[in-house]
Amino acid sequence: MRILITGSKGQLGTELQRILSAGTADIGPIPEAYRDAVVFATDVDTLDILDAEAVEAMVAETQPELIINCAAYTNVDACESHPDLAMRLNAEGAGILATAAQRQGATLVHVSTDYVFSGVDPRPRVEGDVPDPQSVYGKTKLAGEQLVAEASSKCHIVRTAWLYGLVGNNFVKTILGLAREKNSITVVDDQCGNPTNANDLAYEILRIAQSTAYGIWHCTNEGTCSWFDFASAIVDLAGVPCEKLPCTTEEFPRPAPRPRYSSLENARLEAMLGNEMRPWRDALKSYLEQLSLEQQ
Ligand SMILES: NC(=O)c1ccc[n+]([C@@H]2O[C@H](COP(=O)([O-])OP(=O)(O)OC[C@H]3O[C@@H](n4cnc5c(N)ncnc54)[C@H](OP(=O)(O)O)[C@@H]3O)[C@@H](O)[C@H]2O)c1
Repeated sequence: MRILITGSKGQLGTELQRILSAGTADIGPIPEAYRDAVVFATDVDTLDILDAEAVEAMVAETQPELIINCAAYTNVDACESHPDLAMRLNAEGAGILATAAQRQGATLVHVSTDYVFSGVDPRPRVEGDVPDPQSVYGKTKLAGEQLVAEASSKCHIVRTAWLYGLVGNNFVKTILGLAREKNSITVVDDQCGNPTNANDLAYEILRIAQSTAYGIWHCTNEGTCSWFDFASAIVDLAGVPCEKLPCTTEEFPRPAPRPRYSSLENARLEAMLGNEMRPWRDALKSYLEQLSLEQQ
């Protein structure tokens, strides 16, 4: 199988490459169909998804059967001050890829977010729930979902949340740094969601990509917690002693509004493929073990 990955140097793109090259993810071997996959891993330095001509040329040259779009403008707060750039990358770039995928006859996996929901009422969201994004990031990601669905007849939109991987910065690394440096962490306790290990997500994306049940999928690790619960588990599992203080959203204001409750239910995964996502604490434990090995 020939696979084109965009944004491949990011958290998810890196994990996809790792499991495709190893033949296995942390939670199990990847499907047989990917064993001899030829992977074309690109990022902005080799394929800018905003450059339609370059995207068409890359697709024509590599002839992928599967395109996985991991490129995005993921800095939620920066999106508020750069809404045009966010709309271009999260929506227009995704549409450009979808158009090229359609011309090629390739399946497209496009990754989206829990932030497409407002999170006002505390109820896990299923794929058919009506989105109502509150932030620029959420609005631009929803626009991306719509453009992709319009342009591609073979597309899977996979919504995930609170993602952490081995490369780049993320909440887990930030909390570990603060705990070690200050021996104290203060974290919001009134926003809830699903921490998700990028390696687990990469594994499920490869399973989803084999399905012809195109459409929206929710895919996060199992269980809902607050950022404070997540941070507490990070320092406890990593064995970093520190003071843990909960705070409210009002006490920790950010430029972008966050959903108070954006838990996603992996409903289609459960019903159609069997949901193999682990409980979030198990996935975090395995991530912390790998992170500590990488840092030795
Ligand atoms: N991170 C989360 O917590 C989270 C939560 C829910 C959903 N998601 C979604 O999951 C997906 C993967 O997220 P991630 O955390 O892996 O993202 P990431 O680590 O920020 O990676 C995104 C990659 O895209 C690259 N990129 C930027 N502009 C590009 C362009 N014009 N053309 C091609 N590549 C470009 C980035 O390069 P530079 O670094 O050089 O800009 C980066 O390597 C995204 O769709 C995101 O919206 C993420």
